Amino acid sequence: MKRRVAILISGRGSNMAALIRAAVTKDFPAEIAVVISNRADAGGLEKARASGIPAVTIESKPFGKDRAAFEAVLQSALDEHRIDLVCLGGFMRLFTAGFVQRWYGRMLNIHPSLLPAFPGLDPHGQALTAGVKIAGATVHFVIPETDAGPILMQGAVAVRDDDTPDTLSARILEIEHKIYPEALRLVANGRIRLEGNICKLDGGTGLNGTLISPASS
Ligand code: GAR
Repeated sequence: MKRRVAILISGRGSNMAALIRAAVTKDFPAEIAVVISNRADAGGLEKARASGIPAVTIESKPFGKDRAAFEAVLQSALDEHRIDLVCLGGFMRLFTAGFVQRWYGRMLNIHPSLLPAFPGLDPHGQALTAGVKIAGATVHFVIPETDAGPILMQGAVAVRDDDTPDTLSARILEIEHKIYPEALRLVANGRIRLEGNICKLDGGTGLNGTLISPASS
C-alpha cells in the first residue's frame, strides 16, 4: 500500500512539484493525496491542480495567533484525506508543540542549509556571510524548534567566491529537488529507524564519498 502524503506549502511550490513528479514514477512508495496551502495566492496551488492533485487553501491569517484553531482545521483536512505522512515545502507557519508531537516521525521539512547551521531566514545569505565553502540542503523530521529535528538526508554544493544569495540558492534548489523525493522514499519504505534524535538507515548508507572545496589543484 502506498503511503498517503499531504504537502503543505505557502508559495511557489517547486519542492512540491519535485515530490509530485517523483510520486508518479513506477514503484514510488508514496502518493501525493493532497496539497494544502495556508495562503490563497500560493503559486504552487495551480501547479498541483495542473498535475491532477487536489489542492486546498486553509487561510491561516484569519486565525491570527490562535495556532491550535488553525491546526484543528488542518488536522480535519488531513483526516479527510487519510494522510500518513506530511511534507512541508516552504510552509511558512509555525506549529504548536502538540501538533508537532502528534506527527512526530511522520512530518518532514526541507531547509536550504546544512543544518544545524543557518536555520531560519536567509540561510543563503547567512552561509555567504559565514564564508563556508560547502553549503547545501537538509531534509529532517519536524520538531517544535524551527528548522531542527532528526536529519534524514543532506546534499551539498561547493560555494563559489562570486556567489550571491541568488546564485547559491539556485544551485541548492536543484539539490533540494533531488533529496526531498529520495528522503520521502526512504521514510515511506520504512527504511528509517529513529534512535533518539538520530536517523539510521536500514541497510547502511552505502556511501563513502568526500567533497572538498575549494579544489586546490
Ligand atoms: C525552499 O528553498 C525550502 O527549502 C525553503 O523554502 C523554499 C520553498 O521553495 N524552506 C525553508 O526555508 C524552511 N525554513 P519552494 O516553494 O519552491 O519549494
